[in-house]
Amino acid sequence: MQDLDFRLPAFESALAELPPSPGAAVAHDEHYWDLVRRLYDVAREPANLEQGYWGVMAEPVKAMFHHWTDRVNRENTLLVRDRWPALQEGVRQQVAQALGCATEEVALTRGASEAMFALIGGFNRLAPGDTVLYCDLDYPATRNAMAWLRERRGVVPVQITMPEPASREGVIAAYAQALAQHPRTRLVLLTHLSHSTGLVMPVRELSALAHEAGAQVIVDAAHSWGQLDFDAPDLGAPYAGFNLHKWAGAPLGNGCLYVKRGAVAGIDRWFGDRDWGEDDVRSRMHTGSPSFAAWLTLPAALQLHRHIGAATKEARLRALRHHWVQRARTLPGVQVLTPDDALSCGGITSFRLAGRTSETDNEALVRRLRDEHGVLTVRREGPAAGQCVRVTPALHTTLAELDRLVDGLRAITAAG
Ligand SMILES: Cc1ncc(COP(=O)(O)O)c(C=O)c1O
Repeated sequence: MQDLDFRLPAFESALAELPPSPGAAVAHDEHYWDLVRRLYDVAREPANLEQGYWGVMAEPVKAMFHHWTDRVNRENTLLVRDRWPALQEGVRQQVAQALGCATEEVALTRGASEAMFALIGGFNRLAPGDTVLYCDLDYPATRNAMAWLRERRGVVPVQITMPEPASREGVIAAYAQALAQHPRTRLVLLTHLSHSTGLVMPVRELSALAHEAGAQVIVDAAHSWGQLDFDAPDLGAPYAGFNLHKWAGAPLGNGCLYVKRGAVAGIDRWFGDRDWGEDDVRSRMHTGSPSFAAWLTLPAALQLHRHIGAATKEARLRALRHHWVQRARTLPGVQVLTPDDALSCGGITSFRLAGRTSETDNEALVRRLRDEHGVLTVRREGPAAGQCVRVTPALHTTLAELDRLVDGLRAITAAG
């Protein structure tokens, strides 16, 4: 398998200049982040603070992606026909190791949606009349999937509203109240880090509450792993869907699902899969032919992730978030939607201007920031209290780009 080595010399040497895993202490060390920034080739105009859709690959990872794309194209089935099971297993092992769980608890997917649909749609511990619970800050596609369980399983979907302003205590109280009001709740969807406001949910505490109330939990970790430093079992839930092309820096087409050991029977086989045994988590996902090159690049992306270090990434992304939030909070009428405490926020944070809750208001704000101030953000819907604008820096974001956002907001709020 020498020719299938995941660690090419060119990749290793590209990282040589970067001190390995320096930890949270470098969050404000601009020299270190200059070195990290050199690994990326990204468009700088407009200043892109909309890095949440997916994460661009660092250049060494992109070189590996090109390497595998060339090989998939040149060698065609010779590369994968006989060897795919071993290759796929190698990748799966590396993903499991990165997530801090056992290999048999992980199945590869092409993204978080696919993982979440397999878990929500496949969850079979529901009887007609049971309640399934989710909230306004969950991802629209997963909210739709939870609502669709009415047709699929005959259950009663209930959407609750997260408090605004948000707080850990407020979130826990909202779920506790909902579980008490709906004693037949058997499934709770929890989004670890909300795509719409950036709020980090106390998933471990909420999972414990749900379990006490007799419900199972599926966690949507699409935006959390790679942005926050944690292992899959830390979520305290039997099921979770992950994205590996956002914050893990792998090419588009990468994700996985996690099923805690012993919990696989609670999820149906994926369209009656017979490739794998009843107890094998891989029978819960059948992707057909994936982008082989994208999956084969995962080990390189994970190596870079380890090299920088999960704790380093989390600390830097939060420091970038604090940089603009601290300044924006002083501007009249700017409402920041996530609290500043380290347990409740990561790198993503949304805001709105007081009283401007409509799609039109927030779309206009995004347009002004882009057209008049050269800053790219995105409007998000979901929060029951109204729409908002999401700001998402990446590891390669500069402080000057964040200052440009603050300057734009200052000008807009001053103009009224
Ligand atoms: C919270 C959340 N869940 C799920 C997804 C879907 O991820 P993917 O595009 O990988 O399917 C996203 C994507 O933005 C998300 O933010």
